[in-house]
Amino acid sequence: MENQSFGFLSKKPYTAPSWARHLSPIPSHVFSLAHLPTPIHKWNLPNLPKEVELWIKRDDTTGMQLSGNKVRKLEFLMADAVAQGADCVITIGGIQSNHCRATAVASKYLNLDCYLILRTSKALVDKDPGLTGNLLVERLVGAHVDLVSKEEYAKVGSVMLTDSLKEKLISEGRRPYVIPVGGSNSLGTWGYIEAIQEIERQQLDISSDSTGKPGFDDIVVACGSGGTIAGLSLGSWLSELKAKVHAFSVCDNPDYFYNFTQGLIDGMQAGVKARDIADILDAKGLGYALTTAEELEFVKEVAAATGVILDPVYSGKAAFGMLKDMNDNPGKWEGRKVLFIHTGGLLGLYDKADQLAPMVGNFRRMDIAESVPRKDGTGKMF
Ligand SMILES: Cc1ncc(COP(=O)(O)O)c(C=O)c1O
Repeated sequence: MENQSFGFLSKKPYTAPSWARHLSPIPSHVFSLAHLPTPIHKWNLPNLPKEVELWIKRDDTTGMQLSGNKVRKLEFLMADAVAQGADCVITIGGIQSNHCRATAVASKYLNLDCYLILRTSKALVDKDPGLTGNLLVERLVGAHVDLVSKEEYAKVGSVMLTDSLKEKLISEGRRPYVIPVGGSNSLGTWGYIEAIQEIERQQLDISSDSTGKPGFDDIVVACGSGGTIAGLSLGSWLSELKAKVHAFSVCDNPDYFYNFTQGLIDGMQAGVKARDIADILDAKGLGYALTTAEELEFVKEVAAATGVILDPVYSGKAAFGMLKDMNDNPGKWEGRKVLFIHTGGLLGLYDKADQLAPMVGNFRRMDIAESVPRKDGTGKMF
């Protein structure tokens, strides 16, 4: 997509990249919600093996409150919601879901109500969820929040939960549009098929003014609900890019994601096997949204060394897993030009503030000598 700053929040007819035109169905429209193209720059990660050339694509900068990878999916999903005449959107996720926050904001931009079903612990499900991280944005923009416990979620499943809220809203005369967990269905997958076209174009600029290898050999990304890797791996496979996509799973195991991604790919009649086009690895560690001190220390170290702030739940685990894999399997990565996709999630970091507190830098009371004279203004505070 071209630079969209003038068309922000406009809906336009969608034209698929030439190499994706045989997929079906092709979305008819797309909303411009993300600030694109997102930058790509070299990334000198601490402890990166010398034989690897690492770059980062900053999809954390697709916007401000509407930031991260979910915005690319929402460009297609929200266009469909509007085309179907919806007056409200329902979606579902964890208590600090970035997808739910992005959906809440996008809905308000498009004048739609937003209903969020958020999963939390049994001990907290009857309490005010507070205003930490993504919740602050969701509640400020007036999203309706329904809390469910992890046990209820596991028992009933996300589809049943969204369907029952949908029925309730329909009985009240509303026209709801349901977006699945993480925006990961075949329609949302187009967001990252488009991103591949963006990378193809950027790659040309990068190779013309760098002395390194011309194209990316590998793409590395976090995987939470599967839509991002489905789009990236299918797009990379179909286009000239042909970079191998390595997905680091932060929740379920690789088999689950091979099957899930296969479903998304089949939903576009792509006729390829997920196992042939993606390399899915386990990076969940302690479990979804649970972070070890070592992982948090890594997030802190990367921020201090490179200025790039990873989130602890997704991109932090993916980058941590990538470095581990590079060091454990040097032959797999040697001489490769790798593009890491930063998928956002900064607001989720606030949820880890207590764990991070002992790791962050010192502060001190400034020492001002009594005799220092004033140089500027009148001495009034404001
Ligand atoms: C910040 C962030 N990164 C990565 C992901 C994973 O993307 P996907 O759900 O498409 O697998 C998510 C959501 O799940 C996310 O919020």
